[in-house]
Amino acid sequence: MNDSKLDEVFRPFAKRLHANHMSRLGIANTMRLAHSYNRLKFGRQDDWRRALYQTQLSTLLEENGGLSRPPIEIKDGWALDASMSLPHLDRVLEDSEKIIAERSGERRSSKGAYRSYFQDVWTPEDLQKYPSFLDFATSSDVLSVVSHYLQSIPALSTTLPSGIRFVESNAAFDDQPDKPRDSQLYHIDYYSLPNVYVLVLLRDTTVEHGPWTFLPRGVSQKARVALNYWGRQRGYRVIDEEVYSVVDRKEVIEFCYPRGTVLFIESSGCFHYGSRNSIKPRFQLMIGYTGACRTDFTEAILPPKAYPVRDTDSRLRKMVLNKNMLE
Ligand SMILES: [Fe+2]
Repeated sequence: MNDSKLDEVFRPFAKRLHANHMSRLGIANTMRLAHSYNRLKFGRQDDWRRALYQTQLSTLLEENGGLSRPPIEIKDGWALDASMSLPHLDRVLEDSEKIIAERSGERRSSKGAYRSYFQDVWTPEDLQKYPSFLDFATSSDVLSVVSHYLQSIPALSTTLPSGIRFVESNAAFDDQPDKPRDSQLYHIDYYSLPNVYVLVLLRDTTVEHGPWTFLPRGVSQKARVALNYWGRQRGYRVIDEEVYSVVDRKEVIEFCYPRGTVLFIESSGCFHYGSRNSIKPRFQLMIGYTGACRTDFTEAILPPKAYPVRDTDSRLRKMVLNKNMLE
């Protein structure tokens, strides 16, 4: 049976297992099952990417333009870079202003109230129209950080989270601004182990902008065990009171920094929330990377996003933009 046939047969089960944030079997159990299923489909890709990471990473980075600055290292699940020196960041910020001027300030989709405090204004056409974003996302300086953390060659996520999101968080869109819910509540992402985000502040961000807020990995994992989080009887979202019953509030880190600051973070290891009461609109780029073998069923359920690949792209860039690639 080929992979698409396998998905076709399995899709109804996958949907049921995935519904309501994996509530049927619990998140940890569903992730284990999804990982086994995805090993059947993507085991070869996963092994290949891990082997290339072990044996050829420096060559791949070199072919892709090489490193331009001292390496950034993720520690305790996160790394912050406020140096403004990552390649193509200046172009990303410049293009972002065009997108903000064109699209921000009004609700662009009327699709229900789901996440009414948050909208992704990125469109697939932007991949070609504003190449700075993919140039940044596939630069050697960024990819070396993510590769070391994954111990593999990463791919841009093709399902959830979207590989590239250009997010406006705005309390003015929110139909219930005083009621934190959904991703405004603490959770740890289940998509992939690990799932790494590269977050870029596209405007100066303060507490009034509803910043991305997280707990470092070590503290998060202790809390996860203490709360039996990801266990079968547990919901995906956790209210503050519960988290702070096992974590000192002093551990909280808010991503409040000037425009152009970059956060590398393992969202599958760190408790996090964001976009709470953004009384000033917050603009943030969110780039999502995973390995080849994920821990959710979204690839069996959702149509995959495709990223443009050119013949002239480096091998590394091709691998990041094409998750299914295999040599
Ligand atoms: Fe999340």
